[in-house]
Amino acid sequence: MCGIVGYIGTKKASPILINGLIRLEYRGYDSAGISTIEQNGLSIMKDKGRVKNLYNLDGIDNLKGTIGIAHTRWATHGKPSKENSHPHMDNSKTFSVVHNGIIENYNELRNFLLDNGYTFYSQTDTEVIPNLVHYYYKKETGSNQAKFLNAFKKACNDLNGSFAIEIICKDCPDIMIVTRKDSPLVIGKGENENYISSDIPAILSFTRNFYLLNDLEIAVLSRDNIDFYDKDLNAIQKNAEIIGWNALSAEKDGYEDFMLKEIYEQPTAIRETIGAKLSENSKCEFSELNITRDYLLNLNKIYIVACGTAMHAGLAGKNVIEKLCKIPTEVDIASEFRYREPLVDEKTLCIFISQSGETADTIAALKLCKKKGAKTLAISNVIGSSITREADFSIYTHAGPEIAVASTKAYTSQVILITLLAIYFAEILDISNSEIKKLKKDILELPKKIEETLKLSEVVKNFSKEVYQEKDMFFLGRGIDETVAKEGSLKLKEISYIHAESYPAGELKHGPIALIENGITVISIMTDKKLVEKTVSNIQEVITRGAKTLVVTNQNIKEDMFDMTIKIPETNTFISPILSIIPLQLFSYYISKEKGLDVDKPRNLAKSVTVE
Ligand code: G6P
Repeated sequence: MCGIVGYIGTKKASPILINGLIRLEYRGYDSAGISTIEQNGLSIMKDKGRVKNLYNLDGIDNLKGTIGIAHTRWATHGKPSKENSHPHMDNSKTFSVVHNGIIENYNELRNFLLDNGYTFYSQTDTEVIPNLVHYYYKKETGSNQAKFLNAFKKACNDLNGSFAIEIICKDCPDIMIVTRKDSPLVIGKGENENYISSDIPAILSFTRNFYLLNDLEIAVLSRDNIDFYDKDLNAIQKNAEIIGWNALSAEKDGYEDFMLKEIYEQPTAIRETIGAKLSENSKCEFSELNITRDYLLNLNKIYIVACGTAMHAGLAGKNVIEKLCKIPTEVDIASEFRYREPLVDEKTLCIFISQSGETADTIAALKLCKKKGAKTLAISNVIGSSITREADFSIYTHAGPEIAVASTKAYTSQVILITLLAIYFAEILDISNSEIKKLKKDILELPKKIEETLKLSEVVKNFSKEVYQEKDMFFLGRGIDETVAKEGSLKLKEISYIHAESYPAGELKHGPIALIENGITVISIMTDKKLVEKTVSNIQEVITRGAKTLVVTNQNIKEDMFDMTIKIPETNTFISPILSIIPLQLFSYYISKEKGLDVDKPRNLAKSVTVE
């Protein structure tokens, strides 16, 4: 995902900025750029491609400015290109801005600015920011510095979404202003110089004194000072935090492993994936898709094809598409699908889910469907990945780079994205009912509920300690909960090497119950009110046979029946997998840690499987 760096001091800024960007490269990006204040005004140097390409840009060595901002972009709005790279200036070339996150109301702001005579040169959401600041700046009176700060504050008040913003102004060469909301940004304090970064490692070699901003707080950095303000520009005091991390652990943002970090990034990943696509009172929007009512009405079926965890997200997709849109939907494993002579033709919509966008079987399955005349739609986390280049349409999860092999935030982001897609289809089909209305509301409330669910970490950890030496475990559920049982069981296998099997709870009696004996661990998921009693009866059957039971539920059940009950927040059944998988992700994680295994790089597995 995007990275930002900033410098204000007495040294030449450009090499410090580029160096900082290089240290943020691990986050993933497709273009890079810097902007400095020079004798003759603002300079911007940017291009798509690697950070080191900046060294080859004409004039980069002539930059002398001692204040500058820098950015690595991971394309969201608009393809990777020079125009879409940050920094972005306003039309009068007074302000230069870099931004991480998504401005959800950028269309509205863009139209407002167009009506006020502004022109846009990129497809990014970011370009509204410098122009909006300029719009207010013109109207302000007082010193340039006061005008800059007031105009910036007013512009920020107009922004919806998530953002970390750095801005410099040619009229104020001695200050840089930053703010953030739901997007990372740290401030590093040095001697007669100050630094900004998306995360600590990029500037850890310059300082260990950091300031962290709360949402919507504003910092004004000069060479020897930092002033902090709340969103209404009341001055506030902040104490620096002395960071004791070494550069390596800081890359994981203080988490012991990437997997744990990625589990905790899920509220942000879901927020960013929802982005501007959904609001309670308007239709769900996928401007990148060109799907008509007639096309959907004429479909014979939808196929969702994927591998591993992505296939499990597909199962959640089937549930919501069939129930909301009444279109028959099949889910298949790519390596099976491609050899099964699938019944696909021009009346079939084929959806392919792949975090990396590089999974060989999924790409091959997509090519097969294209050959058969079907429309293909890719869901990926990586802009420009192979699958998105092959597909007729592509939509993206915005989970950020997922580094741990076992997928966590990519899975939950895929589930939310396909749910949004189902709503979008339903609305094209003119299906509008209270169920959809309710689902939209529940989706918007989801990030907060994920945050609540993550607080259950300690409880899960304690249960993990009790069972980490087990050899076999069972995961049970019915309906949507069975799909989560599948994903929970896969997570456990992947990183703890414990044999785990998932089963539809009602199917237990047809075989697997023969394996239940004293002390075996059975984990069940119960979030569907209609099915909970049935599942409880099945669990009773394993309790009678001596099983140790862990239940993940959002229902009011008789908890004392079970060895451990994890109570997650209640939500819509369509999206309950996003909450119910979290305790199971944490469960696998803590078991793996307890066993002393390499959580992020489990044996024999690869993050991206590019061979059949
Ligand atoms: C590998 C990874 C899994 C992932 C699967 C599909 O098996 O270890 O975490 O779910 O590939 O990957 P994709 O990138 O296509 O989603």
